[in-house]
Amino acid sequence: MPSLLPSPRFFNFWNPPAPPISRFSLSPSSSTTVSPHRILSSSAMAMPFSSSTSTPKTHLEQDDQNLSQVLKYHSQTKHGFSNYARGPHGLDWANQPNPFRRYISAPLFPLSHFPILNQTAASDDETHDASLYDSLFVSLPPPKPVCKATISQFFYDSLALSAWKSTGFSTWSLRVNPSSGNLHPTEAYLIAPPVTSLSDYGFVAHYAPKEHSLEIRTQIPPGFFSKFFPENSFLIGLSSIFWREAWKYGERAFRYCNHDVGHAIAAVAMAAAGLGWDVKVLDGLGYADLKKLMGLHTFPEFEIPSQPVKGSLPVIEFEHPDCVLAVFPSGTADFSMNYEELSSAILKFSELDWKGEPNLLSKQHICWDIIYRTAMAVEKPLTGESGSLVEPFHSSGVLGERLYKGFTWREVVRKRRSAVDMDGVTTMARDTFYQILLHCVPSGSIEGEKQRRELALPFRALPWDAEVHAALFVHRVVGLPQGLYFLVRNEDHFDELKKATNPDFKWVKPDGCPSSLPLYELRRGNYQTLSKRLSCHQDIASDGCFSLGMIAHYEPTLREMGVHMYPRLFWETGVIGQVLYLEAHALDISATGIGCFFDDPVHETLGLKGSNFQSLYHFTVGGPVLDKRIMSLPAYPGPNKPKSLEKGDEESGQAKKLKRTPLKTVITIVFTKNTLKTVRTESPLNNLCIYFLQWKNFCLLCQNFQEKRTKTVLFHRILARFLKCKI
Ligand SMILES: Cc1cc2nc3c(=O)[nH]c(=O)nc-3n(C[C@H](O)[C@H](O)[C@H](O)COP(=O)(O)O)c2cc1C
Repeated sequence: MPSLLPSPRFFNFWNPPAPPISRFSLSPSSSTTVSPHRILSSSAMAMPFSSSTSTPKTHLEQDDQNLSQVLKYHSQTKHGFSNYARGPHGLDWANQPNPFRRYISAPLFPLSHFPILNQTAASDDETHDASLYDSLFVSLPPPKPVCKATISQFFYDSLALSAWKSTGFSTWSLRVNPSSGNLHPTEAYLIAPPVTSLSDYGFVAHYAPKEHSLEIRTQIPPGFFSKFFPENSFLIGLSSIFWREAWKYGERAFRYCNHDVGHAIAAVAMAAAGLGWDVKVLDGLGYADLKKLMGLHTFPEFEIPSQPVKGSLPVIEFEHPDCVLAVFPSGTADFSMNYEELSSAILKFSELDWKGEPNLLSKQHICWDIIYRTAMAVEKPLTGESGSLVEPFHSSGVLGERLYKGFTWREVVRKRRSAVDMDGVTTMARDTFYQILLHCVPSGSIEGEKQRRELALPFRALPWDAEVHAALFVHRVVGLPQGLYFLVRNEDHFDELKKATNPDFKWVKPDGCPSSLPLYELRRGNYQTLSKRLSCHQDIASDGCFSLGMIAHYEPTLREMGVHMYPRLFWETGVIGQVLYLEAHALDISATGIGCFFDDPVHETLGLKGSNFQSLYHFTVGGPVLDKRIMSLPAYPGPNKPKSLEKGDEESGQAKKLKRTPLKTVITIVFTKNTLKTVRTESPLNNLCIYFLQWKNFCLLCQNFQEKRTKTVLFHRILARFLKCKI
């Protein structure tokens, strides 16, 4: 019997669940204005995919073709006032991709849990006080040794689950790192030398966030790490499953996957920083190296069809390798990387014995061909230049001692959440606003030094100069006039920006702005209505303290540095976005990433013509409205796993309670026009937690109705009738 529950896992802003929990709904992909297109059924094709023939090309011709592909993708996936980028017509809930990849039959190593957030692991049997959030931007704590405890905490604070949510009608998990639509296309790998208490040999493991465990995929040759990396270092690989995101967002999904990679990079960099570790993307490696290093060459190759295709296409559930990050103790003596030698060593990884079969995520798929074509065009070749990985740590500017609310960094990263609504009243002091922006600039605060190089936390993980700026709509900052402002994150672009934007803009430093902050007032005015319109009519863009568009130095970067910079520009926006999320939570307010915006209308607002600068990501920061109808459950053990708790876990009391509950049937309670209806269903999750949640949620719902008491009594009677037991 099909479940009456709407999608439990992906409930978010863009996926409002069934009534009565209704929220702002905007589903570009289901819009009737989607431009007409034909999706072939895979069975209608002679081969699963049509193959394209091509004649050999010179390097230059290939580069030109790749650039045209990227420019085409970017312009084809713009949202406009009158038409959204192409996507599915409505959501195919039956084929909603599983957000949890597993490598079936790969050995599973459970990691430890670290729920006490004012403490940090210092070794396998010692903890220390965790640093305050804002102190990390000034200097990193002394590096902790790499051992089971520190590796466990590192994942727990970067890519693990951070909560389960339930409306009573649906239940879904949330993670430390955010993801557009909560679809989580990003997968992570640990590539490590032997780790005390974890493994006697070097290994490559896939991180399974739901289990907070490592799936060991292979052992790696002894000597690999010591040859290339300093002691106490390891690698983190990130990959994307485009299908997860494309299921909902169609062709624009490639952009969102790359935003998510950026958020994940920053999440990793922050969790590492808290343990005294530094992080750098190993960007000399090429696509083929990354693929072998993470064991992703084990996915079958597929030929890209010439147009969108629908059908059973498990082959598109492959993981696209994005990047590998080196994690090493801060203060490590300089070490340089010979990428050619590293690449030769990685070549041998394809001969290793790779364990585990990837699980199937959906039965039916749609292959949006342009995503795969673009991903192929931006594959980075090995760039052999050797270079130093260790760069000086630049502290970020500090405006005052007491601006933040005194949370530890672990409290901030684990409580991060996207605001579903902003309250439209919360204000922020001018200095607080400046302080947030001081944490968003790449070079920190060194007297006389311009903003350009990425040396401050967490931007220092990115090995290129800043290419992304921010156009800010200030709505509610006390002491700062409402209006349009611009944060120049690479001051080498200042003249070009001034020339490219509306000639009437003032470009003056606002009152009280720190000298090290390249922030400019462009024009005063109330931008609430416009910012909401530009962000796909989403209220969150106008009801916060400020919102912004991240403006990338676009076509010149692709031409000068190569098309592989296309995803990297999105990564940079994701890193900025992650900082904004954390800043907001350190101030006890909230934030939300906004992937849905009308591209060219944003450019028109700024007077930008051509494609030297493009807006790639929007964001809002402000006072959240908490939806009391949504309940939170602890991340672990999660609603399906009461048994797997370790002693001392934060959730152990809860789990015991749930194990004792003798219920076997799910009751879904639906209100229609203030009338109570009941629906009986079999439990799809076979999980006692849900009953408890539904009951609790019902009580909360009752509070929204005048005749609260009567309805609660009625509910008890219904429960008694269906469940024949007490709750
Ligand atoms: C790249 C990106 C784009 C997003 N776009 C939107 C958006 O346009 N509107 C919105 O309400 N939320 C948006 N979100 C927020 C996600 O829906 C949210 O991260 C997700 O539901 C998970 O919730 P969490 O952030 O609380 O973990 C976006 C998040 C990301 C990372």
